Amino acid sequence: MTETTSETTKAPSPRRKFLGWLWACLGLAAVAEICWIGMSFLLFRRERSAAAKTARLVVAGPVDRFQPETVTAIPEGGVYLARLASGGFLALSRTCTHLGCSINWDEKTGRFACPCHGSTFDLTGAVLTPPAPRPLDIYPVRIEDGVVKIDVASRRRRNRYDPGQATRIES
Ligand code: FES
Repeated sequence: MTETTSETTKAPSPRRKFLGWLWACLGLAAVAEICWIGMSFLLFRRERSAAAKTARLVVAGPVDRFQPETVTAIPEGGVYLARLASGGFLALSRTCTHLGCSINWDEKTGRFACPCHGSTFDLTGAVLTPPAPRPLDIYPVRIEDGVVKIDVASRRRRNRYDPGQATRIES
């Protein structure tokens, strides 16, 4: 009986101590590796979402190419560029706000028309004929060194047309 008690209070052997340290080191290495994998994943996601938010500029052309009260299709960006009577520019989505059909610009009527359910929109993208519930979405327009550029990565939804949405040439 006395022998058993003295055995349990004995200090661990050097071999046990070594194994204990080894397990502790392996545990730390595993935790570090899991943390590294987690951080890599989070950084990758952050970089990807930052890249997705980066502007994608499509060059439409020099300002003079677009006359007031005209609409030009910009196939590279999948948008229509409207130049308003005021001289301002609006880049309009081709997607109807009713159920998503592609709209067409009708030069004769001076309207955008949706072939699916008959919605029409004016030069600013405002609804003239429902069932479209809201104006066409827009994209930011920049004018740099006399050249019109459209950021086709930043589509904006709007509930009404406001003249402030048009990009004007700085004087
Ligand atoms: S999808 Fe354009 S009017 Fe219905």
